[in-house]
Amino acid sequence: MIGVFDSGHGGLTVLRALVDAAPDRPFVYLGDHAAAPYGSRGEDDIYRLTIRGMEHLFAQGCGLVVIACNTAAAVALRRLQQTWLPGAYPGRNVLGVLVPMVEAITRVPWMIDTVPPDHLAEPRTVGVFATQATVNSGSFPREIGKRAPSVRVVQQACPDLVPLIERGAPDGDLAPVVAGYVAALLAQLNGQPLDAVVLGCTHYPLVARLFERALPPGVEVLCQPTLTARSLDQYLERHPEYRPAPGEGGVRFFTTGSAPLVSELAGRFFGHPTPFERLSP
Ligand code: SIN
Repeated sequence: MIGVFDSGHGGLTVLRALVDAAPDRPFVYLGDHAAAPYGSRGEDDIYRLTIRGMEHLFAQGCGLVVIACNTAAAVALRRLQQTWLPGAYPGRNVLGVLVPMVEAITRVPWMIDTVPPDHLAEPRTVGVFATQATVNSGSFPREIGKRAPSVRVVQQACPDLVPLIERGAPDGDLAPVVAGYVAALLAQLNGQPLDAVVLGCTHYPLVARLFERALPPGVEVLCQPTLTARSLDQYLERHPEYRPAPGEGGVRFFTTGSAPLVSELAGRFFGHPTPFERLSP
């Protein structure tokens, strides 16, 4: 089984892409709703919560976990891979959502067909929109810089965006508020020309259209769900030991929050009943 971890239900955007790419693969999803959002928390807190999430998912039998939450991936992934995982769970692995984004930016061969034909060249300037904790971690500039040192990265924290989306903004009455907020964020970049924009938070693909409308024409908007699914396929090609035996697929859903509430929200997102089971935080 492959685990998918998120601070809440934004990670369902990533899960949906993973299931669409491989419907016969079994997944376990865990949303840490009791502790969400992570984006305004401190580094040690995010690290502790992420480890706890990994322990829950490993206990469910996952050999490989994808951290869908950018904040957890940006703040905790490298540290847990280097200091905790090899001793605590040798033979298991944890992946994040930053590397797939960097693979898309650097146009690695398996990402080429995700790139619009008028954007085949590597972008020169990339705008990263993310939570405050993700921006503070410096992970996006660091990871992009390692693989594509000539790409200039401009970061913009969006502290109000997750709470607005959680309150139902994408298609509800709050949509104009979000549109105004996105326009104000872009204005803070003072008209710096961008070739591409990274929506570096699980929730932001839900308002990708608002970004596209507010950006000048021709700016490539990179959303993680499809890129993460593509990158996971490539990873499993290279590491067959993590490939779950093909079966009937299916997802088990867990939350540390209120199962009825989260099931209701997820049901609306997927358009069919999505029962969550509660895990004690
Ligand atoms: C959050 O928990 O604040 C947002 C999730 C993310 O960073 O992807």
